[in-house]
Amino acid sequence: MWLTLQTVCSRNRTFCRRSYVVSLLKCSRLRGNTNQTVGLSTQTCKALLYRKHGDPSQVIQLEDIDLPPLGTKDVLVKILAAPINPSDINMIQGTYAILPDLPAVGGNEGVAQVLEVGSQVKSLKTGDWVIPKDAGLGTWRKEAVLAEDDIISLPNNIPLLSAATLGVNPCTAFRMLSDFEDLKTGDTVIQNAANSGVGQAVIQIAAAKGINTINVVRDRPEFAQLSDRLKAIGATHVIKEEALRRPEMKELFKSCPRPKLALNGVGGKSATELLRHLQLGGSMVTYGGMAKQPVTVPVSALIFKDVKVRGFWVTQWKRNHSKDGRAFRAMLDELCNLIQQGKLEAPACTEVGLEDYSKALDTAMQPFTSVKQVLIM
Ligand SMILES: NC(=O)c1ccc[n+]([C@@H]2O[C@H](COP(=O)([O-])OP(=O)(O)OC[C@H]3O[C@@H](n4cnc5c(N)ncnc54)[C@H](OP(=O)(O)O)[C@@H]3O)[C@@H](O)[C@H]2O)c1
Repeated sequence: MWLTLQTVCSRNRTFCRRSYVVSLLKCSRLRGNTNQTVGLSTQTCKALLYRKHGDPSQVIQLEDIDLPPLGTKDVLVKILAAPINPSDINMIQGTYAILPDLPAVGGNEGVAQVLEVGSQVKSLKTGDWVIPKDAGLGTWRKEAVLAEDDIISLPNNIPLLSAATLGVNPCTAFRMLSDFEDLKTGDTVIQNAANSGVGQAVIQIAAAKGINTINVVRDRPEFAQLSDRLKAIGATHVIKEEALRRPEMKELFKSCPRPKLALNGVGGKSATELLRHLQLGGSMVTYGGMAKQPVTVPVSALIFKDVKVRGFWVTQWKRNHSKDGRAFRAMLDELCNLIQQGKLEAPACTEVGLEDYSKALDTAMQPFTSVKQVLIM
């Protein structure tokens, strides 16, 4: 089965780009002399496909899809592992900012191993580990033929789960800690959803730079265990949402300065409470909206504290830096160094075989799990 041409479009239609999955099918036919195909392939592979938007457990199916022939500038890869992230779920539901034309293969992130390279491929060789440069790759599949330009290599001596979960959440954490405030050793960052994949990366990258983190999580019966787990990876303080409104916060600020930066992955009341604790002129960066509630900014925070209210989307950052790949390469090198030094671990993960996708999708949509589902191919 050849998939028909897919596009990944912004919902406001301001830009439109082809998804790798099918653009490659098309490219292999159109590239002519610049990327000639090397023989016709009849190989197939298993993939998690959706033909319409909806509840992931209803619309995702495991199917056999054809692999296109290998072009001269393409590589054949075996996908090793791919996580299930909230944005993958939102894409399938049809509620994300960019959506593929259907049918589409699920998954935007993951690590793959190069099995074969086209004759004009320069930057990659057999055995290399690679991750996508952009969203829309369709990683929930066993194999893929990908353009050399659409993937970037990683060292293959880092843990598999670190590689599989590196391209989205740690990159988001890294950029938010680098690009909004000039954070120095001893400064403080406050964040909600601190047990999320992004949150765990923020804790570790901040700790590696000597930056304090105040980590807010929703209350749960096993709060103490979660708090211990986050402290073990470098969290300075772990508090419940309710504590943000209590006088005990004043006590906490006796041991660390008020935050220069607040990272909001939740929205609603939680975001408003983060804002109240920022220092004069500090920034709140919103990167997620798990509570599906708008952010309300108290007038006093704007007038008397002159807080900056910003947003961040790692997909846009990658696209802004796609022509000159040096910034992305430098960030990945720095993150991989932290991994190799034992300073940045993958988030807590459950490894699930591709065939057990249904259970993994269900679990990924449950609250209070604090564990990332990773499909092992
Ligand atoms: N802007 C970007 O570039 C960017 C990049 C990466 C991720 N994101 C976004 O960041 C968010 C986290 O992603 P992730 O992969 O790190 O997620 P994750 O590991 O799956 O964790 C989900 C987090 O959301 C919390 N949560 C779920 N429902 C909630 C609710 N109703 N109210 C408050 N908290 C809730 C969970 O807390 P509990 O344990 O309490 O359920 C958990 O901390 C998502 O919205 C994702 O789309 C954005």
